[in-house]
Amino acid sequence: MLNAKTRGYLKLNSEAIAIRHFIPSDIEVVMSIETAAAETPWSRAHYEDGFKHHYEMYLMSVEDIPVGFIVMRWTGDQAEILNIAITPEYQGQGLGRRLLCYVIDIVKSKQVLSLFLEVRFSNKKAQKLYNALGFNEIGVRPAYYEMRGTKKREDAIVMGLEFYE
Ligand SMILES: CC(C)(COP(=O)(O)OP(=O)(O)OC[C@H]1O[C@@H](n2cnc3c(N)ncnc32)[C@H](O)[C@@H]1OP(=O)(O)O)[C@@H](O)C(=O)NCCC(=O)NCCS
Repeated sequence: MLNAKTRGYLKLNSEAIAIRHFIPSDIEVVMSIETAAAETPWSRAHYEDGFKHHYEMYLMSVEDIPVGFIVMRWTGDQAEILNIAITPEYQGQGLGRRLLCYVIDIVKSKQVLSLFLEVRFSNKKAQKLYNALGFNEIGVRPAYYEMRGTKKREDAIVMGLEFYE
């Protein structure tokens, strides 16, 4: 099995990486990825809603091991990324970037005008990735996120990627 604790340590073989739509029986594994990676993971009901509302939900595997996922929805001529995570042991090797690019290509192919997302103010790592892919900061939602273990809340930065200027 791959051991990828050190950022940049491993050059992943593209052929070992697969991305497919996830199905209801994948919810368990997606939840375990998110529980390991994220501060306030979604509940099962969020994912069930995703199926109900026809969100685009993709699971990424490396050598058949599920390592990440992304959830996106269409909102008219715009699209929104609602969730993305890579399991911690596999972070820092280009998988998040690859998953995001996969979805950006799908969105572009549908003639959608812009793609949005929200990210925690403190999540500089994710913001760096979004900036690198052309997203710009377009607003702030004050006190949008819960902060685990405290009663405080954290701002969300709203970021957007425009396809046709
Ligand atoms: C955000 C996340 C999906 C990125 O996935 P990843 O596979 O680790 O990212 P990548 O290896 O593709 O890195 C892409 C870019 O992200 C940034 N990045 C990644 N790891 C970083 C680190 N440790 N420090 C700073 N920037 C980092 C860099 O810009 C990097 O590009 P570079 O390698 O050319 O410098 C992943 O860290 C994650 O699951 N985090 C927890 C959940 C989360 O925060 N989701 C986002 C919610 S909005």
